[in-house]
Amino acid sequence: TEIFQPLRANSRGWDLGCADHLEEIVEARKPFTETVWEAGPILAGEAEPQEPRERFNPAVPDQVVGRITDASKADVATAFDAAQTWDADGAERARVLLKAADLYEENFGQIFAIVSREAGKTIMDAVAELREAVDFLRYYAGQIEHLTEPPLGTFVCISPWNFPLAIFTGQVAASLAAGNATLAKPAEQTPIIAHYAVQLLHEAGVPKAALQLLPGGGDVGAAVTSDARVAGVAFTGSTATARKIKQAMAEHCAPGAPLIAETGGLNAMIVDSTALPEQAIRDILQSSFQSAGQRCSALRCLYIQEDVSKHFLKMLKGAMDAFVVDDPWQLHSDSGPLIDAQAHGQISDYVAKARKEGRVLHQTASPDQGHFLSPTLIRVNGIEDMEREVFGPVLHVATFKAKNIDKVIDAINNTGYGLTFGLHTRIDDRVQHVTDRIEAGNMYVNRNQIGAIVGSQPFGGEKLSGTGPKAGGPFYLPRFAQAATPDAPE
Ligand code: NAD
Ligand code: ALA
Repeated sequence: TEIFQPLRANSRGWDLGCADHLEEIVEARKPFTETVWEAGPILAGEAEPQEPRERFNPAVPDQVVGRITDASKADVATAFDAAQTWDADGAERARVLLKAADLYEENFGQIFAIVSREAGKTIMDAVAELREAVDFLRYYAGQIEHLTEPPLGTFVCISPWNFPLAIFTGQVAASLAAGNATLAKPAEQTPIIAHYAVQLLHEAGVPKAALQLLPGGGDVGAAVTSDARVAGVAFTGSTATARKIKQAMAEHCAPGAPLIAETGGLNAMIVDSTALPEQAIRDILQSSFQSAGQRCSALRCLYIQEDVSKHFLKMLKGAMDAFVVDDPWQLHSDSGPLIDAQAHGQISDYVAKARKEGRVLHQTASPDQGHFLSPTLIRVNGIEDMEREVFGPVLHVATFKAKNIDKVIDAINNTGYGLTFGLHTRIDDRVQHVTDRIEAGNMYVNRNQIGAIVGSQPFGGEKLSGTGPKAGGPFYLPRFAQAATPDAPE
């Protein structure tokens, strides 16, 4: 297969600084203010009748947003039995995926409403979520004409709750673009948006046997990755779950079945004394606290050069006080809640422990109701003090002396992760030096370190952070197709 980078055709997006665009969004999502959605398995066969569970709004925890039927073991078996590769030619598959992208954009009101009320996304996050999903559809559709190899067979796509439309769609779009029979298993917290996405993909023309939805938790994920008919798995989530899937595939699937895993990170940023403080602080706020820090790419550990740290920290605390954490439905909200009570409990305990140890440098305000957690700064000696990824609005801060910058980079590399990394400096040689030494999938200089754009910034980590190939880049789609066989010697 030839590696081909299609022409950029990114989604239109919305300008949130423009009153007309904001009005358009507010009006379009209004009909869905109180909707209670229904979601469940979508199979090319009969689903087993089951008692639904309720899904609540993480910002308003007594508000039911959906009644969800999870897939049973029988539903998983039905899906495997009914799965069929998509036998339309490449041009037709591309046409259907492009049509799906248009349907996503046309239905932005309902999409923004679901991701806000089911997953706690602010308007800014909801726009980014939809744009990325649409970009994935158009990007992989644009690559199809250069994909000469056939599909692998039945491909399983397992996605996380933090990008419940974008990552869900990216995996599914690549699998379908290659023509695979696709079984999609969304996160248990966000089945409503996945259900809606599959309805739109079917409406666009994807055959039911080529795309089936199996909502549920880790038990459904384990069942769907433990079948001899699995030809490959695309997974995004924690490193721990990736290990379990690898184990299940080793026991049950063909040895050559690929696992594409995009996992967690311990992401750092270095700010030296030449950085422009106003710009660095804006980028730090976005990288650490937007989306309540619930991005794999989010900044977790900030290194500030000692000479400027006092002044810099004072400015950072002031900027944090102006960052608004509130119900994501409200236009003024910069960040919404954590995804559920369990995440809230775990991260609150972590912050409480740091407070007892006298390491909390600053914490701002957030609403009492809902699973909100106030943005928090915690002092550390270095990234080696962090045992794990803290998946919330918690920024760890360390200082460093200029002569020790290589030791800092080595400590970051020694975590074993390698997802995103940020550098703020105005010294060109330093950019080159750090770039050569850092081990990270995505490195950003003098900007924030979240929100990679499909087609321009292929996204993915190395080491504990993922297997590659990077999503939204030219090498991703070919992994969903059979490898090209070199001609046998005459
Ligand atoms: P998770 O690993 O708990 O769950 C991810 C998915 O795996 C869910 O659909 C879940 O139901 C499923 N799952 C759980 N146990 C399973 C099993 N035994 N077999 C098969 N599937 C199983 O992760 P999460 O809490 O949903 O997401 C947060 C994590 O995802 C963080 O670590 C974050 O860094 C990572 N993440 C990485 C990227 C990336 O691109 N690298 C993007 C987003 C999130
Ligand atoms: N692609 C997402 C980001 O860059 C994870 O934030």
